[in-house]
Amino acid sequence: MAKILGAIASSHTPTIGFAIDTGKQDDPAWQPIFAAYEPVKQWLKDKRPDVLLYIFNDHVTSFFFDHYSPFSLGMGATHPVADEGAGARDLPALRGDPALAQHIGTALMAEEFDMSFFQDKALDHGCFSPLSIMWPHEPDWPGRLVPLQVGVLQFPIPTAARCFKLGQALRRAIESYPEDTTVAIVATGGLSHQVHGERAGFNNTEWDLQFLELFEKDPEALTRMTHADYARLGGWESAEVIMWLIMRGAMPARVRKLHQSYYLPSMTGIATAIYESEVEEAPYQHAAEYLEFCRHQLAGAEALSGTHPFTHQRSVKAYRLNKFLHSLIYPEQRARFRADEEAAFSAAELSEEERRLVRNRDWLGLIHYGVIFFVLEKLGAVVGISNPHIYAAFRGETLEEFQKSRNAAVLYSVAGKDAVGKLGWDGDSNAP
Ligand code: FE2
Repeated sequence: MAKILGAIASSHTPTIGFAIDTGKQDDPAWQPIFAAYEPVKQWLKDKRPDVLLYIFNDHVTSFFFDHYSPFSLGMGATHPVADEGAGARDLPALRGDPALAQHIGTALMAEEFDMSFFQDKALDHGCFSPLSIMWPHEPDWPGRLVPLQVGVLQFPIPTAARCFKLGQALRRAIESYPEDTTVAIVATGGLSHQVHGERAGFNNTEWDLQFLELFEKDPEALTRMTHADYARLGGWESAEVIMWLIMRGAMPARVRKLHQSYYLPSMTGIATAIYESEVEEAPYQHAAEYLEFCRHQLAGAEALSGTHPFTHQRSVKAYRLNKFLHSLIYPEQRARFRADEEAAFSAAELSEEERRLVRNRDWLGLIHYGVIFFVLEKLGAVVGISNPHIYAAFRGETLEEFQKSRNAAVLYSVAGKDAVGKLGWDGDSNAP
């Protein structure tokens, strides 16, 4: 079974990454930052976790306000470094752990946390700034990382109490994973700072130290605080420190603090801390029962022949092909595809198998591969094939045979005004 080895808390200011990249190790103004991370680095070196479950927030880099979510779990196989304005930092991409992420995602949804899930997104300094100082990465990162991105910038955001409860469920989720994987939980953010408006530059060291004390000994007290309480005491952007409570919820009530540091060089109180469990105790009574609870919603679905639930597993496996077919909603991509399908396949770096499936309009083969139906109807709209034609192909029937199984022999698709006048079924009956 998977095991949580302990937890790390850390601020995630861009200052940290800047200090590393500009070689400030011996500069007296920056040296305390490097000193603060030494015990964290050593702990990770000694414990050698297979995976970091890494809680952070993006800073309007990869998660924009076109769709903003409270809790987003990273499912992908890799997590590259984001460009935040002047090129990405020169760091290797992180390896994800799709299988563990899928298990955690399933467990959290079973626990009634309505998560969102992402892949194919670069991670910004919220992740890489502290990570690059605590986890040596030459030539590669020493383990895998499952990111949990928390939307703390556009209000309303999750409450401190909700974060704590999510952490409690996260512990059950991780420690019920059947593989022998070791996990360290890392929470980032804070401490006191405000980076916008007339109150910019607000700090409160006294509160920061009190927060660190309560965090260790009485985290429930912190869950009763409002966002306004956090903002009043620590500055508006310090409310992101609720992310630490996810980690704290994932640790037992009694923890042992192995290390703590605090340094305020400029705008943000930079803190680091390491915690381990005081006592060995499983977060559930019977692992098998908990796993059954996690799988309950889909139990029995495997018996439904001809049914292929679009799960995270399928989503990750067929991501490139689903992305290619989804891109047909953009007029310029549609035009490229219509002009030269093979060139469009090459530009999307599709595999030979993926190209063959699309080239042959192998509708059922595409479903078996992991493509979701709702991008197939887009392909159908582009190439002039109706939805009922696709349904008939799934069932291995002619269109006429399929139509006989309906109450009315209608043809339709999601094609809009760009269907350029002629659809593939023109001439067939289109009347309801
Ligand atoms: Fe932040």
